[in-house]
Amino acid sequence: MNSETEQIETTVNIKEVLNWRYTTKAFDTSKKISAENVENIKALLQLSPSSINSQPWHFIIAETEEGKKRLAKGTEGFFSFNEPKVTGASHVVLFCSKTEIDETFLNDINEKEDQDGRYAKEEFKEQSLGAKNLFTNIHKYDLKDAQHWMEKQVYLNIGNFLLGVAALGIDAVPMEGIDMKALDEEFGLREKGYTALVMVGLGYRAEDDFNATLPKSRLTEEEIFTII
Ligand SMILES: Cc1cc2nc3c(=O)[nH]c(=O)nc-3n(C[C@H](O)[C@H](O)[C@H](O)COP(=O)(O)O)c2cc1C
Repeated sequence: MNSETEQIETTVNIKEVLNWRYTTKAFDTSKKISAENVENIKALLQLSPSSINSQPWHFIIAETEEGKKRLAKGTEGFFSFNEPKVTGASHVVLFCSKTEIDETFLNDINEKEDQDGRYAKEEFKEQSLGAKNLFTNIHKYDLKDAQHWMEKQVYLNIGNFLLGVAALGIDAVPMEGIDMKALDEEFGLREKGYTALVMVGLGYRAEDDFNATLPKSRLTEEEIFTII
């Protein structure tokens, strides 16, 4: 076995991580995420799985006060309850989704996979492109939910991300309560073929965050599981 295929040894206690993480409503503004963890954050975003490896996303990462101020344009007015979670965070990630998916994009992904050494034979590469087009066309034409399908991939990334940052000991707050239109305008996203979806504030919990001491609340196992 080479290092890539070896079983990884993991010491993460998943239940502990799941119970430690919570939606952080107030950050300790004096604490910043290290450069090493910023790299880990980027790896989480880049390496998330997605259907047909479509990766229909773009991420705006704010690490400066200026950057956070720009993202806070998405928390004005009705969404001002989320503003301190953006301005007080160490870093903020805006998850954006592609608005359209076409053959050129699918071909680009396939070429990248080829460059990355995924196709031993030309026919495998062609088969893969065929499958990408087939699944995309199901969503474009049969289900007519291509944009929604891409957003699902971005949400999957968000789920992966929330668990991943918690495993790094980083607190987070996912926010759907944002002004997507204002953010699209601020970053010219629509012109570039993207739209804002969810923002995640990152950092370290403030000592007086009321939400840190509240117990977790979830539906019961009886309600959510059918074990057969
Ligand atoms: C996609 C998504 C969007 C959310 N949007 C917001 C938000 O705008 N503001 C906020 O304070 N919390 C937001 N939350 C946090 C949820 O309310 C929270 O995850 C849920 O109550 C479970 O609590 P926990 O995360 O502390 O375990 C969001 C969570 C998710 C997953």
